[in-house]
Amino acid sequence: MRRDTDFLLIGSGIGGLTFALRVAEYGTVSIITKKSDQESSTNYAQGGIAAVVSPDDSLQSHIDDTLKSGAGLCREKVVKEVIYQGPECIRQLVDWGVRFTQAGERSSPVLALGREGGHSHERIVHASDRTGAEVERALLERIKSHPNINIYPHHLALELATPTITSAKKSERLQRCHGAYILDVESGEVHLVAAKITLLATGGCGHTYLHTTNPQIATGDGIAMAYRAGAVVANLEFMQFHPTSLYHPEAKSFLISEAVRGFGAVLMNRSGERFMQKYHPDGELAPRDVVARAIDREMKTSGEPYVLLDLTDIDSDKTRLRFPYIYKRCLEYHIDITSEPIPVVPAAHYMCGGVRTDLEGRTSIPGLFASGEVACTGLHGANRLASNSLLEALVLSRRAAAASVEEIKKVPSPPKSLPLWKRDGTPDDDGWVLISHDRTEIQRLMWDYVGIVRSNHRLVRARRRLKLIASEIEDFYKSAPVEEGIVELRNLALVAQLIIRSAALRKESRGLHYTTDYPERDDEKGKRDTVLRRSRISSIIR
Ligand code: FAD
Ligand code: SIN
Repeated sequence: MRRDTDFLLIGSGIGGLTFALRVAEYGTVSIITKKSDQESSTNYAQGGIAAVVSPDDSLQSHIDDTLKSGAGLCREKVVKEVIYQGPECIRQLVDWGVRFTQAGERSSPVLALGREGGHSHERIVHASDRTGAEVERALLERIKSHPNINIYPHHLALELATPTITSAKKSERLQRCHGAYILDVESGEVHLVAAKITLLATGGCGHTYLHTTNPQIATGDGIAMAYRAGAVVANLEFMQFHPTSLYHPEAKSFLISEAVRGFGAVLMNRSGERFMQKYHPDGELAPRDVVARAIDREMKTSGEPYVLLDLTDIDSDKTRLRFPYIYKRCLEYHIDITSEPIPVVPAAHYMCGGVRTDLEGRTSIPGLFASGEVACTGLHGANRLASNSLLEALVLSRRAAAASVEEIKKVPSPPKSLPLWKRDGTPDDDGWVLISHDRTEIQRLMWDYVGIVRSNHRLVRARRRLKLIASEIEDFYKSAPVEEGIVELRNLALVAQLIIRSAALRKESRGLHYTTDYPERDDEKGKRDTVLRRSRISSIIR
């Protein structure tokens, strides 16, 4: 079956929802999302959104902090634009109904600001310690009452519809994105949703790793679909590991916000010694890559499976007031954070690379835009500054929306001749076993060989093993009926391969990519993006 829409948005996190609200006056909008509508990384964001809203802060200081964190790979123009537009985007969120935590007098309240690693000022706008859930609540409420917007939960994008058409003059082969093939998970039917503009807002790929802060949706589907369609992807070696996720056998993916360290919590090894000053003069508030590597080193040296994050010297009432959600969740695991330290470990958290876009969110395929974690705009460079990702999604969706409402005026409707989805198969019992087994195998080998500290030897092993796993998965995918488990597994296998290839191409250590074979930064050869395109690998020198 075929459905037509003006704007097709894949993903209902901050990237997709804010784009929807900005384009809805200009055409029909369909948002498809693979789980329930609020399920996204956005929904779990704790710390907040970095933006310059205080008179004590300055745009230049935020720009400097972002560039410093990005270790020489940020695109300065992008950094400036994103940071300049931050305050306006925060105002827009407030107008859309987001209730941020306030400080100051009741008669003249101001936005309360938190502090996170790498920031030289307090500039994190937040809604208690559940910023993302509040943003999703407010945006979804608005979206659902908009007559031009339809949202389709439990719909999974399988592939982009990007046929290559030979132009009338027969001289040029033109490719354009005309929408996507979407599986209605409940009915099992696959629809072609034909669109004039398609936005990828599918989020990250933390589930390529065994330990991650990301929710289950983060399987890199957007990167995989775009790459298969021929789009340029970049900088996938830069997976950010968050230093502090809760270590507890029953707690999967629970983050202890960096704002907790910004509030004064300290890191200790299990003998009770603070260690961060050994690694960086900013101690607990050093950039994330430094803190994650320091914890990794402490754990490896001591053989202990975790380190401790301690807030017990801080007034208990203040802790409970500032972090009610973290306090409550930890209590569920019998940890009272006001009276005992929290066991923490690093976990895969944020993909700085992704589908390459310009400052308007345009990818290398006409008609296809990307915003949010799936995109690589050049803001983060080799290491994202804390709380800059929600900001990036807000600004890029705003700019992409403005560009696409102009573009849609000139774009003809998608051709009637677009092919419908044709592929069927019969399930094979061994194949279904392969899904859960292979998913864990990929995650484990990425964790062990392509984690916080890398080496040539480990990358070669990972590459060899993944090649085999990926080809088995591909065979199964071709023979089985289309189903969520195999679709996500195939995407995870592809994205894991792309991460390994990118890591192998970077022969230096920079930002989040650290390898024992090239422990130093090499500004002569390394100041470049790692760019991959289907059946072509290249590096662009800046
Ligand atoms: P998401 O919010 O992840 O949304 C992706 C959407 O795409 C989901 O709706 C998903 O279901 C859908 N989707 C994916 N694949 C498909 C498919 N094939 N078909 C259909 N739908 C699909 N950043 C900050 O700046 N500040 C913070 O405080 C902060 N805290 C964080 C805390 C946690 C625990 C995590 C995991 C991340 C945090 N981050 C934070 C990062 C930030 O939350 C994300 O980078 C950001 O929310 C990404 O937004 P997005 O719209 O790009 O993607
Ligand atoms: C956190 O609250 O520590 C997450 C902030 C981020 O990832 O930007």
